[in-house]
Amino acid sequence: MLELKNIVFEVRTEDGAIKRIIDDLSLTIPDDRFTVITGPNGGGKSTLAKLIMGIEKPTSGRILFNGEDITDLSITERSKRGVGYGFQQPARFKGMKVKKLLDIAAGKRLPMLACNEYLAKVGLCSAAYLTREVDKSLSGGEVKRIEIATILARDPKLAIYDEPEAGIDLWSFDRLTETFRDIHEARDGRSIVIISHQERIIQLADEIVLLRDGKVERTGAPADLMPVLGFTPKGIPGCQLSEPTELHLTEIPTTC
Ligand SMILES: Nc1ncnc2c1ncn2[C@@H]1O[C@H](COP(=O)(O)OP(=O)(O)OP(=O)(O)O)[C@@H](O)[C@H]1O
Ligand SMILES: [Mg+2]
Repeated sequence: MLELKNIVFEVRTEDGAIKRIIDDLSLTIPDDRFTVITGPNGGGKSTLAKLIMGIEKPTSGRILFNGEDITDLSITERSKRGVGYGFQQPARFKGMKVKKLLDIAAGKRLPMLACNEYLAKVGLCSAAYLTREVDKSLSGGEVKRIEIATILARDPKLAIYDEPEAGIDLWSFDRLTETFRDIHEARDGRSIVIISHQERIIQLADEIVLLRDGKVERTGAPADLMPVLGFTPKGIPGCQLSEPTELHLTEIPTTC
């Protein structure tokens, strides 16, 4: 279980003023929970994820993971305890091959079959990517999907994905949504937090957290919150979804 207690995060801007980005935020994410954090641009979603991962340190407040105060722990220490984070804009690693990156994430040399599975889950063909370098030659969407595959390989107790849909084509997004649905349905004690604006991801959530101006504005189940977010929940007669959910894209191969 992750507990955020009265988290405040402030930065000093160029003109010397103090800007409060996260404003006395308290939130609990229980085990086995699929949480989607959504809200307007600039609301503080990525900052919150970075605070949980230890990339940023809160100005005040405490972060507890499974009862342990991790507020002052480094990224590596948090990672060892089972917290994993996929950046909104992932880094590239010149000279590092995809296979090696997956091995590092898993903490062991992975058999080919496992690599194939992790890449297939994000809609990538292992034969075409395992020996590629994670450098500028990969497109933005490819790097994003490879990073998601590394988190799947790491298999953290708490996985935070920051806008996994960003830059990903419709076909791969379809595959990715299935992967998240499978993780959710496995219910094996892990928690998954997805920062997203996508209706198809939001509707998978056990709980939606609406973050605005660094505060939790509302939390609730999709049925309660989707109308607030401007979406119509599925299953209501005459419902018009704001994007297609049945894409019928099976003819287009996204795995090999
Ligand atoms: N180091 C910093 N210095 C100044 N402002 C910052 C800093 N880090 C974040 N911000 C500001 O804090 C706000 C929240 O940023 P954040 O990236 O967390 O938003 P977000 O909710 O993830 O938005 P998006 O939906 O666009 O990804 C933004 O206005 C951003 O410009
Ligand atoms: Mg963000």
